[in-house]
Order: sequence, then structure tokens, then C-alpha cells
Amino acid sequence: MRRCGQWYAALPENGVRVMGIKNGWQGLVEGDLVSLTREAVTGILPRGGTILGTSRFNPLEHPESLSRLGDNWKKHDLSAAIVVGGEGTLSAAHDLWRDFHYKLVAVPKTIDNDIAGTDFTFGFDTAVSIVTDAVDRLHSTAESHHRVMVVEVMGRHTGWIAAFGGIAGGADVILVPEHPFRLSRVCELLEARKRDGRAFSIVVVAEDAHPAVEEEFLSEEIKQNLYRHDRLGGIGGVLAYEIERCTGIEARVTKLGYVQRGGSPTAYDRVLATRFGVKAYEMVLAGEWGHMAALRGNKITSVSLAEAVSGIKRLDEDVYKVAEVFFG
Ligand code: F6P
Repeated sequence: MRRCGQWYAALPENGVRVMGIKNGWQGLVEGDLVSLTREAVTGILPRGGTILGTSRFNPLEHPESLSRLGDNWKKHDLSAAIVVGGEGTLSAAHDLWRDFHYKLVAVPKTIDNDIAGTDFTFGFDTAVSIVTDAVDRLHSTAESHHRVMVVEVMGRHTGWIAAFGGIAGGADVILVPEHPFRLSRVCELLEARKRDGRAFSIVVVAEDAHPAVEEEFLSEEIKQNLYRHDRLGGIGGVLAYEIERCTGIEARVTKLGYVQRGGSPTAYDRVLATRFGVKAYEMVLAGEWGHMAALRGNKITSVSLAEAVSGIKRLDEDVYKVAEVFFG
């Protein structure tokens, strides 16, 4: 059972049969299932995304969906499902297991690395390597043109991607949601670099990074546009504008956006996803319902879904402190 997308359902018939459910919960509601034979998954290891498709559909938000989901579960004679996803997907899995007793186990998959109970989610390392590569490339033009390059990255409400990508790429300032930033401090750092003869800078900003309240410079209207839970993004552009205004140094923005979710997974992610997959299969055989495969240190283990969805996992303070050492 290798990394290949969203949901798997195991049926104990001549051993175990594996079905793939298309487009997340929506596929279970619509009865859109395919057989995941060995042939069907051959060659998918280097592929990004998911061969099954995905959606942000939550069956708990639609009462009629719940009964259709139950009908399809019975119709396909499913004995268990392995749910692969991030915060929203896992929360729905937790509730469906707790309130409706579906036999579910889970695997944490998101570029954001914001799932509690596991040190890393799969997808994160690949996104970080894309950010690192982009920051490396942006150094060339920043240096040649003596500019400040602001690089906006994803991460939802956490700064994991920004911190890891920023440290790996040697960013001069990294702004994360966990530490509201003061624009005056950012500008001071960039001006000091210029005075020291380093006329270019790279600022990595997470999509949900906010200005500190004591130095708020965004109008309510702008905030509403930038910080929608379902669609974050745009702080990089505003920041580049403000940096140029207050330092006089030419600034540009690059919003990496969905590029961070594409391409071939890193070796680390392939191995992690494979280890999670094998663990999830073992959890099904052991009947560990309502649990998620997790990485703790170097070991794959399992944690309760209740723990996994208890709150988002914020950026590790120790990692942020390491990033801070290199600011300016
Ligand atoms: O959760 C993964 C993620 O890529 C976030 O980093 C980002 O904020 C969000 O999804 C974008 O969601 P959508 O694909 O719905 O635009």
C-alpha cells in the first residue's frame, strides 16, 4: 500500500481487497470507488498529487450526505477505511468514528505540517524543498538588482513551511503567524544589511503572518481579503509595497502559491508516506479504530484521532529561534 492519494477501504475477501475512494469524502457519498490493484498503483511513487482526486467536501455539513455515505459503505461492503488528509479531513474522520462508529484509521498528509501528534506530515518536505529551490533562485536576481525579494509561502495558520524553507534557503527575515511582526523592525534589519554592504535581501513570509497590533498597518478591508480561512494569501504583496515605502529599497514579491503542491515528492516524503501506509494497514488489521499513524522521533507509531484534531500544531519555538539567529 504505497503513497497514492486519499482514501482506501479494505475488504476482507480472499485476503484483503483495496478500493480507492475518489475525491475524498465526496466519493463515498457519491459511491465513486475504484479497485486499487497492484497494477493500478504501479509507477505512482514519483508522482505528486493524488491519482484518486481530492475535494474539500465535508459530509458532516450535509445531513443527507451522511445517509448516502452509510448506504455506500454497506453497498460496497467496506470493513474499514484509511483516511489520508489534513486538518479538515481528519476532523471529519474523527467525528464519523466517534459519533457514527465508522471503522476508520488515518494518515497525516498535508504540506502545512500542522497536525498534532506527529512530528511530520507527508508532503511537507517536498513543499520545503520547492521553497528552498525558489529562494536559491531568487537570490540571483535579488543580488544582481540590489532588491528586496519578498517570497510568500503557504502553511495555512502555521509557519512551518516558511521557517524550514527560509532557514534552508538562507532568508534574511522570516515572518510566521506564530510571531506577529513589526514592520519597523523588518525595515531596520533590511536597512542595516544595506549599510553593511549587503544591498539585497530575501524576506520569506507565511501566508497567515500578521503585523503586531502595536504596529498595525492593514485596513480592516485588506485584512478581510488577506486572511480568509479558506483562502489565505496576499500579505507578500502588501509587505513588499510597505518595505519599499519605508526603506526606499526597491522591493518585489513572488507568491509561490500552488507550485508548492506540485512535482515529484522528495525521497523523504516517499519513505514517510510508505511507512505511514504500512502502519495504517497494520492498524486496520489490529482494529485500532479512531487512530492515526504518526511519526515520533524516528519511529512510526499511532496516536488517537482525538489528539490529532485537538488543535493545530504551531511552529516549534526552537526552530523559530534558530531562524532568528540569522535575521538581518
Ligand atoms: O492545506 C494546504 C494548503 O495548500 C494551504 O497551505 C493553503 O492555505 C490551502 O491549502 C489552499 O487551499 P485551496 O487549495 O483550497 O486553495
